[in-house]
Amino acid sequence: VHEESLRPKTLEDYIGQQKVKEKIKIFIEAAKKRKEPLDHVLLYGPPGLGKTTLANIIANEMGVDIKVTSGPAIERAGDLVAILTNIGENNILFIDEIHRLNRTIEEVLYPAMEDKKVDIVIGKGPSAKTIRLTLPPFTLIGATTRAGLLSSPLRDRFGIIERLDYYTVEELSQIVMRSASILKCDIEKEACIEIAKRSRGTPRVANRLLRRLRDYAMVKHTGSITYEVAKSGLEMFEVDEYGLDLVDRNILEAIVYKFGGGPVGLSTIAAAIGEDEGTIEDIYEPYLIQEGFLVKTARGRVATQKAINHIAKIKFKLKESGD
Ligand code: ADE
Repeated sequence: VHEESLRPKTLEDYIGQQKVKEKIKIFIEAAKKRKEPLDHVLLYGPPGLGKTTLANIIANEMGVDIKVTSGPAIERAGDLVAILTNIGENNILFIDEIHRLNRTIEEVLYPAMEDKKVDIVIGKGPSAKTIRLTLPPFTLIGATTRAGLLSSPLRDRFGIIERLDYYTVEELSQIVMRSASILKCDIEKEACIEIAKRSRGTPRVANRLLRRLRDYAMVKHTGSITYEVAKSGLEMFEVDEYGLDLVDRNILEAIVYKFGGGPVGLSTIAAAIGEDEGTIEDIYEPYLIQEGFLVKTARGRVATQKAINHIAKIKFKLKESGD
């Protein structure tokens, strides 16, 4: 069973993001009553919170087809024109990482979103001609981790803009329970909660930890994920009590030990730990900030007292175990 099948197919089965769900449900119902496509939707928020899942659910609930692509996959304006002219009536085009579309390609979207028009240029030089095509009605769903990186003309053309937030431990625990049942994996309630606590508010992380603990339980134990199995497995995978992994801890350690707690610039941290700047900024920092380990200031990143205590505690534990 692959990741795909853990994804809920209906709003009913989608756990969490309560307010977003309530609104989307109304917009879908209204659009269906009017027999119109849903207005264009922008979903933003940290990675792994279910933006792609939600786009697929919207398509399913609207009863339309969805074509999935991403900003980096669309290399030329012509690629986008080809996609747009092939979208069936009222269907959905989903563009993941829409902030990574380059500006000239983005400009194809403006008239397409607003007036269902695309301009095609035929030929080159003085004899070049523009032909304006009319598209069938469609819905664009864009997803981004960084709404701030979208140009305002693009952002302004989305009628529905929703932010997904980190999940609560209770919600993640329900997700783990649901996923375990789909995977036919026996798991204790307390183990679900422990996984939820260490999943950085993110279903993608929770489902990944569940799969790895299932492996661990099968090989090292009887196959059931008991609370004890979960605890020892998570320790082996070096996922700590806050769900921080090695990279998170390297970031905090670098700031605390190499740069006196900060402030220190992102590029300096990236160089110090050998990670990509964009990865740190998009994937690691949002959660560290949300949990109060890190603050962003005008002069750079600063480690909080909570980070200093946490790093010190881990060092102490390692020393105790003679590592
Ligand atoms: N799997 C991943 N995200 C989910 C969610 N929000 N609800 C239920 N299952 C999920």
